[in-house]
Amino acid sequence: MRESSVLELARRRKTVRKFLSDPVSLMDVLLALEAACQAPSGANAQPWRFVIVTDPNKKRRIREECEKGERKFYSKVRGELKEWLLSKGFSWKKPFLEEAPILVLVFSEKRAPHSTRSVWLAIGYILLALEELGLGTVTYTPSDPKGVLDEVKAPKENRLEAILPIGVSADEKLKEPRLGVKEVSFLNYWENPIS
Ligand SMILES: Cc1cc2nc3c(=O)[nH]c(=O)nc-3n(C[C@H](O)[C@H](O)[C@H](O)COP(=O)(O)O)c2cc1C
Repeated sequence: MRESSVLELARRRKTVRKFLSDPVSLMDVLLALEAACQAPSGANAQPWRFVIVTDPNKKRRIREECEKGERKFYSKVRGELKEWLLSKGFSWKKPFLEEAPILVLVFSEKRAPHSTRSVWLAIGYILLALEELGLGTVTYTPSDPKGVLDEVKAPKENRLEAILPIGVSADEKLKEPRLGVKEVSFLNYWENPIS
């Protein structure tokens, strides 16, 4: 049986950008979103909203809209970020938006206190829940969400925080390295190491 403590799930999880065409059960996606609904949020406003997209035509149009924005972004990006993107082989092309069987568009209600922070915390819950279910995703943050908002008729009071394409991984990339806990934590004051 697979170990599924929070630490084990966190260690195992990695971003997935290539997907098999195997179907994904809507019930599994709802289970992961149910985990998100248990996240803490500013003033318990629960500002997360989700649009689940299964329709292949809608996925294609979402991909087209996102790629329009990415083309502009990639033509302008410079410096360290550009180097990092190139080193990873990233480009304006986002095939995972069509290849993943299900997309979850994650929104925040703009007027809620700490809405973005709360929603990203909930996204963290989703990532671990998907890992436990044997599913993968990428927290894709479109460069220009405008066309996507129109495509799903999102009310203007909501901000698109991320698109999560969900599916079975076909991504062979290794887990990206992490700093150790003692490299990022100090005791009582900054830079006092934990021995
Ligand atoms: C706030 C945030 C935004 C991200 N945006 C994107 C994105 O737009 N496209 C993408 O491919 N990955 C995106 N990622 C995924 C990161 O690149 C990835 O988590 C990081 O490189 C570490 O890799 P790992 O998740 O496989 O451990 C984002 C992650 C976070 C937390």
